[in-house]
Amino acid sequence: MPSGPVKVADIARDSVRNSEAPWDSFNALEYLNENYLRLQQEDRLILTAVRDHFGAHFQRHGGGGLRGLDVGAGTNLYPSLAMLPWCSRITLFERAPGNVAWLRGEVAGYGRNWDAFWRLLAEHPAYQGIDDPRALLSGAAEVVQGDLFAQLPERGADVGTMFFVAESLSTEREEFVKAVNVFVRALRPGAPFAVAFMENSDGSDVGELHFPACRIVTNDVVDCLRGHAADGLQVNRIEIPGELKLRDGPTCMLLALGQIR
Ligand SMILES: C[S@@+](CC[C@H](N)C(=O)[O-])C[C@H]1O[C@@H](n2cnc3c(N)ncnc32)[C@H](O)[C@@H]1O
Repeated sequence: MPSGPVKVADIARDSVRNSEAPWDSFNALEYLNENYLRLQQEDRLILTAVRDHFGAHFQRHGGGGLRGLDVGAGTNLYPSLAMLPWCSRITLFERAPGNVAWLRGEVAGYGRNWDAFWRLLAEHPAYQGIDDPRALLSGAAEVVQGDLFAQLPERGADVGTMFFVAESLSTEREEFVKAVNVFVRALRPGAPFAVAFMENSDGSDVGELHFPACRIVTNDVVDCLRGHAADGLQVNRIEIPGELKLRDGPTCMLLALGQIR
């Protein structure tokens, strides 16, 4: 391993554990600008499926005043927005200091780029009763800095999301499996969840820095979640047509939707 932060020029496939990646230098604005200034096609597909999953779950089971949890929130507010109708508290749990600082500022009054994400959510009746999602998120959101491997409380959340984190925090398969396990253990029995993954990712560049990933496919996700999920677990492939591909790297994303046993 090279000493110091891993640069793009370093060999991307070297083993990089979570504790070795340059999270302290993660550039929140670069990542935001690359991924979430506009609602991209892949996020439209993912958010629609997540919205319909949570909407259907809470229509069947009811729910209000719940505790939501988004693990590894980065600079992505849409998982939290998707949980908003049912939550009085949403914890955005994140390791990188730059992302934590960005999140703390953003949840206080989020930018207009997120309005397109909310409009998509508000096509579902469950979201239509919320007049001011900006104010509601500001009151509900709690940004917590921490390492999910060490500091995520068990069984604390009633609904949860983790987007592009478990496979994108190191090259090590064992850490991918552990991250999924830690996430599901942070949820209460019966909690609905949505977890998104990049398939076969070699990692990604944010500015000058390379961030590691573990190459996974659908069966890896099913294997990790099957033992924790109630009947009805779905793992969907979100295929992105070449001409619409805007993110670097893989053209397929995986979205797991289910409920904790
Ligand atoms: C690829 S980004 C995904 C960010 C965001 N969830 C999204 O949908 O774009 C991976 C995120 O996981 C966070 N992360 C990495 N290791 C972590 C750890 N041990 N504990 C908590 N968060 C971590 C990173 O700081 C980064 O924000």
